[in-house]
Amino acid sequence: MSTATASDLAINGGSPVFESNVPFMSVGLTKKDIAAANEVLESGMLRAASKCAALEEAFAEQSDAKFGLTCANGTCALQLAYGVLLERGDEVITPAWTYIATVSMLVAAGAKVVFCDAIEDSYQADPADIERKITPNTKAIAVTHLYGIPVDIDAIEAIAKKHDLKVIYDSAQAHMAEYNRQGIGAFGDACTYSFYATKNLGTGEGGMVTVNDENLAKQIGFLRSHGETDKYLHESIGFNYRMNDITGAIGLSKLETLKPETDRRREVAELYATRIDSIAGVHRPVPTKGSNPAWHLYTCRVDLDALTCTRDEFCAALNKEGVPTAVHYPKPLTEQPAFKDLADQQSTLPVSVKLASCVFCIPIHQNLSDEQAHGVCDALAKVAAAFTK
Ligand SMILES: Cc1ncc(COP(=O)(O)O)c(C=O)c1O
Repeated sequence: MSTATASDLAINGGSPVFESNVPFMSVGLTKKDIAAANEVLESGMLRAASKCAALEEAFAEQSDAKFGLTCANGTCALQLAYGVLLERGDEVITPAWTYIATVSMLVAAGAKVVFCDAIEDSYQADPADIERKITPNTKAIAVTHLYGIPVDIDAIEAIAKKHDLKVIYDSAQAHMAEYNRQGIGAFGDACTYSFYATKNLGTGEGGMVTVNDENLAKQIGFLRSHGETDKYLHESIGFNYRMNDITGAIGLSKLETLKPETDRRREVAELYATRIDSIAGVHRPVPTKGSNPAWHLYTCRVDLDALTCTRDEFCAALNKEGVPTAVHYPKPLTEQPAFKDLADQQSTLPVSVKLASCVFCIPIHQNLSDEQAHGVCDALAKVAAAFTK
């Protein structure tokens, strides 16, 4: 237990826990990734071809899904999944506590958005609230495995079965996450992924949809490429949301190390959990029962009742100790100007509103050493002690 007081904090002139900042994330390409991209560049085959196909197969297999479809990014992945599973006007239940794309693409698909609240300690969509918000018009549930922590899939699948609803899992942050010892690709009608540069598998831009139904896979393939069912035969309106083979090759190369990298994230998360449980004033994430998270982000909460500071003051002090932080997210989606028409739903979302004032993410990645992780916890304990009421 730390006995630090305000004057010990680096922000007040005390000595910091770290001389230089711990890296918040670890992104970028290895020589092997660059060689894989170069091979494609030299071949001249720049469109989606064998590398994208190989990535689709390998990624689907590693996620326990039957089919994978690469696409331009995670937002396109959502559009493709919604495009084949929803009709305009469908009522869809979705979290207010997630990244905007999960919901903005529902609006783009013409869906009627009904927000559900989150569970405070796991941050995931609350199945009880989903059930409360079902109406005779509800057609689907679109939820996010936020921060890489799977939602309560058993509960959501049971609700979907009972009410005959489609389920789309936004898995942009959850590559390789597991639920009940299965890859998350085994569940729901579709899972969508992002390969944005900072994601656990980051190709720069890029995305994937996985499904378990062959017909659905075919429809997504058509929608991805101008509804083309044969050369210059367009049976429906579609987009160009294809990936390219340079990205595909980088993705394939990175996929080879994703499992051990995810396991390292899990080791760091375990170390954090043990240490943070004994730090008064800070709460750690509590994964959903049965889940094995991918830990894209490690999101904690400050206990504002136990501390004399705000979340932002807490993070400012932590940053001066050499621990960078990030806030995912500063607002529930009901407070986004883009969703002003949905703002009246906020009164039913108290947890989402509360989370916006207290969450903060600490460093987690495959290259974080135990020593650095302990240092992060020392800094958390120091700052919490100094701000204890
Ligand atoms: C939960 C979630 N959904 C969707 C997306 C969109 O992915 P992309 O940026 O690849 O379009 C992101 C990306 O940040 C995300 O975190």
